Amino acid sequence: MFNDKENFDIDMKNIPNHIAIIMDGNGRWAKKRGLIRKAGHKAGADTLEKVSRYAQKLGVKHLTVYAFSTENWKRSDEEVSGIMDLLRKYLDEHIKKCKKDNFKVTMLGDPLRLDTDIQEKIKTLESLTKDNTGLCLHIALNYGGRDEILRAVKKIAVDVKNGVVEPENIDENYISSSLDTEGLPDPELLIRTSGEERISNFLLWQIAYSEFVFSDKLWPDFGENDLREAIYMYQNRDRRFGGRK
Ligand code: FPP
Repeated sequence: MFNDKENFDIDMKNIPNHIAIIMDGNGRWAKKRGLIRKAGHKAGADTLEKVSRYAQKLGVKHLTVYAFSTENWKRSDEEVSGIMDLLRKYLDEHIKKCKKDNFKVTMLGDPLRLDTDIQEKIKTLESLTKDNTGLCLHIALNYGGRDEILRAVKKIAVDVKNGVVEPENIDENYISSSLDTEGLPDPELLIRTSGEERISNFLLWQIAYSEFVFSDKLWPDFGENDLREAIYMYQNRDRRFGGRK
């Protein structure tokens, strides 16, 4: 489906404001090369760097990536600690160069299950980048769409109990602003790599009207032109939001 030779001619005036990516295929990428899974995740982290930079160059405002799901704890201890080590390195590097690349970084998901040093690094990076004006990079860690909705329901129940809101005044905006993505626009485009065509508990509330693009490329092989093709496909979709033309 994706053709590296073609340079997709995208309309720079119609770039999605918010792109979400399920970065899938690191393990298969490593296996194909006879490498351990961690090497695939390392290559995946490098791809995340390149794709974030290119998204910023194209003028994308928000990029939300699925780095570790609530279900990923079921993987072997070795793989989980490999991903956590990569995350530590990623956070340290971004703390060092936080003013240079101008990204504003935030995390989605429940941080409490992460090691405390990782929670501290996340807080540091979020605070150091909060006034940056470039790409807003949202990294989903220990994130699950159902878990996010469950936490929001509990928060809203407490609001009702404390008289902050009356049940009849709870509307879609109230729910949206109780989620981890509070204040963010919904993604116009959701990309999943590696040929899998499912949502895997990612941004369940927020993708109600997103366009989905499934790429056969394994995440470490996903490049600038693949992002251009996904945007090209998005730009050629007929978005009706349930209405008629
Ligand atoms: C899916 O590939 C990928 C993950 C579960 C982890 C994603 C992690 C990264 C891109 C790198 C780490 C991120 C940061 C921010 C440092 P998979 O392992 O499910 O691949 P497979 O389906 O081929 O086995």
